[in-house]
Amino acid sequence: MKIVIIGAGGRLGAALMREYRDKFEVSGFNRAQLDLSNFDDVREKLCGLDFDVLINAAAFTNVDLCETQREEAFRINAEAPRLLAEICHGKNAQLIHFSTDYVFDGEKRQPYNEEDRARPIGAYGESKLSGEKNVLAAPGDHLVVRVSWVFGPDRPTFIDTMIKRARENEEVNAITDKFSTPTYTLDIAEMLPRFFKGNVEGGILHFANAGECSWQEYGQFALDCCRRLGMALKAKTVGAAKLKDMTQWVARRPVYSVLSSAKYAKLSGSSPRAWRDAVADYIRRFYSSK
Ligand SMILES: NC(=O)c1ccc[n+]([C@@H]2O[C@H](COP(=O)([O-])OP(=O)(O)OC[C@H]3O[C@@H](n4cnc5c(N)ncnc54)[C@H](OP(=O)(O)O)[C@@H]3O)[C@@H](O)[C@H]2O)c1
Repeated sequence: MKIVIIGAGGRLGAALMREYRDKFEVSGFNRAQLDLSNFDDVREKLCGLDFDVLINAAAFTNVDLCETQREEAFRINAEAPRLLAEICHGKNAQLIHFSTDYVFDGEKRQPYNEEDRARPIGAYGESKLSGEKNVLAAPGDHLVVRVSWVFGPDRPTFIDTMIKRARENEEVNAITDKFSTPTYTLDIAEMLPRFFKGNVEGGILHFANAGECSWQEYGQFALDCCRRLGMALKAKTVGAAKLKDMTQWVARRPVYSVLSSAKYAKLSGSSPRAWRDAVADYIRRFYSSK
């Protein structure tokens, strides 16, 4: 199986590169090596390559900047994926394209499944939804994988920020009224090969670690893990902040965007592990010696 990964310098793409290095014939492009907004370059670099699966982990992921740079966001998140799907079709290859829980409006109070209507409330979600549609409209069995609150060792996220703040300050806060599920890049890397070319029909697939939480619960659990490992923290508890206090945010964000992994469980015969187990695993592995 020959695999090419776009976004190899990002949080998810770098994890996939590392995890697949010994298992598949894998090559990758970071942004400096392949700019998705340059369609001629994309065509030129990919058309000359031989691969079975193309994984697109690159995206314009800055939710606030997408509001002010809409055109660029749509070019990278919506138009480029269409081109990638077309290139894959020409090579009889499969495109696996990553998308987001932010395609939903957040009004539901139960996990969103793949059939739920996507109704984004910001430019990032709009551009990503448009990208999903473009990929699925192209001929071929392409797969769109929606994930949420992605964390992992390759780029700092909320967990790392909370730990850093708790080491330096006696008081830390996080939002109590916004809910989703943290999802570990290594768990995504582990589950994805089941869906490689030939194993599954194309379409949309949700994947997140099991359970749900607010940012505050997420942060509190991370600090509890650190304390169990004996790490010195100045802050022991995570105080409450409200979504309405985030006045610096430009974009609206969905309040509730938990993804149901029921379809994944049905297709794979296994369920994702709980987000607490994944977070504990990450902290044990990457913070024990720090
Ligand atoms: N992070 C999350 O919580 C989250 C949640 C839901 C869904 N997702 C989705 O998961 C996927 C992976 O996200 P991630 O967390 O790994 O984000 P990330 O760390 O921001 O990675 C995205 C990568 O795309 C690259 N990129 C941006 N513009 C590009 C362009 N024009 N050409 C080529 N590469 C470009 C970025 O390069 P630079 O860093 O150099 O700009 C970065 O390496 C994305 O589809 C995202 O929408 C993420």
